[in-house]
Amino acid sequence: MSGDTVGRVEGKIALITGGGSGLGRASAIHLAQEGARVVVSDLNEETAAETAASINQIRQGAAISARHDATVEEDWKSVLELTQSKFGGLDVLLNNAGISIGGDIESTEFAEWKKLQEIDVDSVFWGCKLAIPYMRDSGGGSIINISSTVGILGNPLTLGYGTAKAAVRSMTKSIALHCARHKYNIRCNSVHPTFIKTPLLDRFTEAGGSEEETYKTLADLIPLGEILETKDVTYGIIYLASDESRMMTGAEFVIDGGLTSGYMPPV
Ligand SMILES: NC(=O)c1ccc[n+]([C@@H]2O[C@H](COP(=O)([O-])OP(=O)(O)OC[C@H]3O[C@@H](n4cnc5c(N)ncnc54)[C@H](O)[C@@H]3O)[C@@H](O)[C@H]2O)c1
Repeated sequence: MSGDTVGRVEGKIALITGGGSGLGRASAIHLAQEGARVVVSDLNEETAAETAASINQIRQGAAISARHDATVEEDWKSVLELTQSKFGGLDVLLNNAGISIGGDIESTEFAEWKKLQEIDVDSVFWGCKLAIPYMRDSGGGSIINISSTVGILGNPLTLGYGTAKAAVRSMTKSIALHCARHKYNIRCNSVHPTFIKTPLLDRFTEAGGSEEETYKTLADLIPLGEILETKDVTYGIIYLASDESRMMTGAEFVIDGGLTSGYMPPV
């Protein structure tokens, strides 16, 4: 993190789930660089604290951290109360925490299916449901739900994960319209990245091959020929968190190097 702030989300208060790793950590840092104060929450208390510490080294008091299982209602209540008491409100909720388990319809165990729905869908349900009153009472806000390209396209090898991410895509639109209907001034959008260089991709490297080879294999699936850096996604998150996107709600923010655009002929 550099000390430079441009201020695109100056003065905003953001809560980031899964902020101890990968995209959540990068988003927390980028939001803080752009002027937000952030609550970094994660199931892993230590990694969340590391993210907050790296932000506070640059801008003291800009971040706090909390252990937070995003599937648990009581944990949500605690972290939202912490956000309110430490920072005085909530403007941005980034529902980012998630896991990925591969498997097709024949190989996926029911327990894996349920776990994916619990961590990748229930967490977003609780986050939106419990954060809306805080945002509504402080004049509005922006909810950003991390889905995936597999929430849009079918993929035989990610049955449970894709189903969960498609649920997030649909839930986002229903919540956006609910908030618009009640004039809460709360926007709700989903983000659909393709492969990002984060520990979530470890399951591919664990299956064999070096990280470099794995990234190359995945990059070959993408029309622009590269997998994403976290920054490619956090720029989109900054936009959705900021007032620049004030007329955007219920939308799918796709960052995928062209993957979902259609079929790319091999020659
Ligand atoms: N990496 C990719 O290729 C990719 C692509 C598209 C979408 N995504 C999505 O991006 C989001 C972030 O993933 P990432 O790539 O940074 O993965 P990651 O594994 O690096 O980070 C995920 C974080 O979520 C936390 N977490 C897991 N279960 C939790 C729970 N119950 N409560 C709270 N925190 C929990 C983990 O501790 C971890 O810190 C996920 O929703 C993922 O599905 C990732």
